[in-house]
Amino acid sequence: MPKRDFLQIPDLTADEIRELLDLARKMKAGKYTKRPLAGKTLGMIFTKSSTRTRVSFEVGTFQLGGHALFLSARDLQLGRGEPIKDTARVLSRYVDGIMIRTFDHADVVELARHASVPVVNGLTDHLHPCQVLADLLTVQECVGGWEGKVAAWVGDGNNVANSWLHAAGVLGFELRLACPEGFEPDREVFDRTKELTTVSIHEDPEEAVQGAHVVNTDVWASMGQEGEAEARKLAFKGFSVDAQLMRHAAPDAIFLHCLPAHRGEEVTDEVIEGAQSRVFDQAENRLHVQKALLVMLME
Ligand code: CP
Ligand code: NVA
Repeated sequence: MPKRDFLQIPDLTADEIRELLDLARKMKAGKYTKRPLAGKTLGMIFTKSSTRTRVSFEVGTFQLGGHALFLSARDLQLGRGEPIKDTARVLSRYVDGIMIRTFDHADVVELARHASVPVVNGLTDHLHPCQVLADLLTVQECVGGWEGKVAAWVGDGNNVANSWLHAAGVLGFELRLACPEGFEPDREVFDRTKELTTVSIHEDPEEAVQGAHVVNTDVWASMGQEGEAEARKLAFKGFSVDAQLMRHAAPDAIFLHCLPAHRGEEVTDEVIEGAQSRVFDQAENRLHVQKALLVMLME
């Protein structure tokens, strides 16, 4: 069987996503005791910071009987200019899977092309597919699935937003995005999604959130955009998820945020700490979905 990578949500079919979430729920319920990664190692390359991704992949690999290696790009020869294609081929001789978090999505594609073991995208500037698998599990648990439901995205059309578009396209639910001009999601991803499901971009957050079952946001300045933080604060004025905005959503809507959050910017303390917030379930679900993913790719 050829090796499989997970670089973006559409690398899985809708049925495979459902199967993966079924397995993740079984794992979360403590009904999965196998150790399919016994004797196996996951190499985890990080060129950006991480709390959730690093810890959930490391703990998840351990729980499946395997070993996870944290590889900071600063310490790897990669950080001194060793080509990605060489790194891919060398690591493939030692490890059974590679997870990578980095800036340029093309680097992850290149790594996957030259690696003979499965490669998992742990976030690029373009996409964050593992996050959205966890978000989907949270949506299943907290609003009973996405069929006939509306999800809203408020704020930056960034990596997480692009992966939400991918999910909407593969699974066929409605996604409305409210983004300031110039901060819309990737045009190509949006246009392709438009052929598959109902998606729209709004200038007014209230319009996007109206009757939505899920209200999702993320930081205004992602990793690598720290220098733009002040300018972005101005551009995103009016795009905070606050209690007033949440009142436009469905009464039982949930609030999601991939974290880390900047309270007082993209979300108020009241909303993230409020009764509709599911952000810590969402963070926990990273562990369960990624364990299911590792079984799917590395067993
Ligand atoms: N949500 C997320 O990916 O968190 P980390 O940056 O802490 O990994
Ligand atoms: N959009 C954020 C997500 C962090 C998990 C970033 O890329 O920094």
